[in-house]
Amino acid sequence: MSDDVASQLRALRRQLDDHNYRYYVLDDPIISDQAYDQLFKQLQTLEANHPELTVPDSPTQRVGHVAQSAFIRATHLLPMLSLDNIFEAPELGGFLHRISNGLGGLHTNPDFYCTPKLDGLAINLRYEHGRLTLGATRGDGEVGEDVTANIRTIRNIPLHLRGDNWPALLEVRGEVVLPKDSFIALNEQAKIKGEKLFANPRNAAAGSLRQLDAKVTASRPLKFYVYGFGKVDPQVLPDSLAKSYDWLQQLGFSVCPGGELVRGQEGCQRYYDAMLAKREQLNYGIDGIVIKVDSQTLQDALGYVSRAPRFAVAYKFPAEEVTTRLDAIEWQVGRTGALTPVARLTPVHVGGALVSNATLHNMDEIIRKDIHIGDTVWLRRAGDVIPEVVKVVIAQRPADAKAIQLPSVCPVCGSHILKLEDEAIARCTGGLFCPAQRKEALQHFASRKAMAIEGFGERWSDQLVDRDLVKTPADLYELKVQDWMSLERMGIVLAQKLCDAIAASKQTTLARFLYALGIREVGEATARALAQHFGSIEAIQAASLDALLVVQDIGPIVAGHIVGFFQEAHNQQVIAKLIARGIHWPSPQKLAQDLALQGQSFVLTGTFRAYSRDEAKVALMALGAKVTGSVSKKTTAVIAGDAPGNNKIEDARTLSIPIWDEAALLNVLKT
Ligand code: IVH
Repeated sequence: MSDDVASQLRALRRQLDDHNYRYYVLDDPIISDQAYDQLFKQLQTLEANHPELTVPDSPTQRVGHVAQSAFIRATHLLPMLSLDNIFEAPELGGFLHRISNGLGGLHTNPDFYCTPKLDGLAINLRYEHGRLTLGATRGDGEVGEDVTANIRTIRNIPLHLRGDNWPALLEVRGEVVLPKDSFIALNEQAKIKGEKLFANPRNAAAGSLRQLDAKVTASRPLKFYVYGFGKVDPQVLPDSLAKSYDWLQQLGFSVCPGGELVRGQEGCQRYYDAMLAKREQLNYGIDGIVIKVDSQTLQDALGYVSRAPRFAVAYKFPAEEVTTRLDAIEWQVGRTGALTPVARLTPVHVGGALVSNATLHNMDEIIRKDIHIGDTVWLRRAGDVIPEVVKVVIAQRPADAKAIQLPSVCPVCGSHILKLEDEAIARCTGGLFCPAQRKEALQHFASRKAMAIEGFGERWSDQLVDRDLVKTPADLYELKVQDWMSLERMGIVLAQKLCDAIAASKQTTLARFLYALGIREVGEATARALAQHFGSIEAIQAASLDALLVVQDIGPIVAGHIVGFFQEAHNQQVIAKLIARGIHWPSPQKLAQDLALQGQSFVLTGTFRAYSRDEAKVALMALGAKVTGSVSKKTTAVIAGDAPGNNKIEDARTLSIPIWDEAALLNVLKT
């Protein structure tokens, strides 16, 4: 009897695997969704009745039952490298030239295999004896995170390889992406629920994959496309990449779509132009093409230089630009009262995201770019960078276009607006009287790098301020579950969670606490420097201008803000209350040792794979480096990730400043 059941189970699993493969990989289903669901239910029922016969790679076992508490590290068997980037035709010539030089007499005109460069996140999948045993992120290239439970939920990833023509150890590498239509749907859902929107499909894919609860990942229609190999043992690969892709597809993988064999500069350029033209229509984001020497033998002959192969290159698309109408200007009031003009645009798709706002920074920029309400404007967006209004199409300015004026009173609290002659920024003078500033101050106080109060978002700070439940951050620590329950869209579970999160935030560090106070121009790095230098809040409160100027990176202006902040009686009271309500930290040891990157200065541009730009900045600063926004003679190097800003690269070239890639960044961070 149980033999019968066992063979029935095997047959069902096999059928479901086949249908899955036809549906997700070949895109050629032969049964309806309902028929598939029926088979699936049949299998579920049978497994439920015979739990002893359930196997981990059954189609029913994609979603795990328990959430993880953290991701564990996974060391790659072969490092996950990156690619050199090129941006223009002459650079393509240079790349091809280096290839033929590198090959010497071996080959004069090799085939190149071109694929789109998918804008997602790199993943390594390990199959041992045909079974998926590990899915890991790239991390720093050497060590990533084990995301196997999440990877298993991705439907077009086989849990076991098809057929039997595979090596004992097979690692494949590829990109996890979220299709554009799913990205739009996901953001629409998030909007309805009042949650934070994802900036682009790549962030959404990354966010979906880095979920401790695989059920969340399972609910996101992620896809995985293979573009290459990790460790393969024994080495049995076909000598051509194009042929490898066929083989991979037979094993059950979706391979990077749109691959083509081409020859010479003309062939590569033609592929690039065609992909660039197709880009908008594709249902996944791409930010360039990848050109690889097709032959494995020739690849091996060319080898690697530092962290990138010599046989491949990423030929990146230029930042996307589109035109749209500027419908209105809204003035937002920030934490320090700074008024920022935000352009409300007729929504357009650009750089893989639907954009309806762009910040204009300040009045000077509006004047410089001669922006009017009603203008048609060019909008540019590269990678994760905030969209930018590049310029106005003056020829299309309508007769009723309106000039933009700095408001004379705060649009939120009606206080006076102050703009000093030599400052670009205009400020609301309302201070914490201004609800907008109070809300921002609260959010900042609770944010991840400050007091890290989990789950505390805009939704709550707005209501707490609007209902006068909270006037200063200290009031947060007085809130009871009942207070929270009086807010809209609040339930008992969430209310309790927020109370707990606030209680948990009491244990912090001096640096976080200082940063959380929101002193003007005291960012994370400055807060850390202050904490290290002075060691206690009392010492910082008592510090004179001269004493502050001794601290690394603190100049007269910041020192002035710090002294001014602590002189304010109101601020002293808030600090005293916070401490009275239990906020505490271990006393930091003064950092005496010299830091590795002391005196060096970097400019970061583009997006990085192992770090967000912010994280990279903090990591560099923690080693004593300066990170600035523009390239100057004093810059040590410009560190370029994916889709770097053209201006920064040009400036670096003009000033002969070295340009580093992400691998070089990872290298210095390791020191
Ligand atoms: S080949 C040595 N092919 O781009 C690395 N990479 O900048 C060989 N990527 O880390 C990579 N689409 O995550 C290759 N069709 C494609 C790709 C692709 C996206 C990503 C990949 C890699 C990064 C390198």
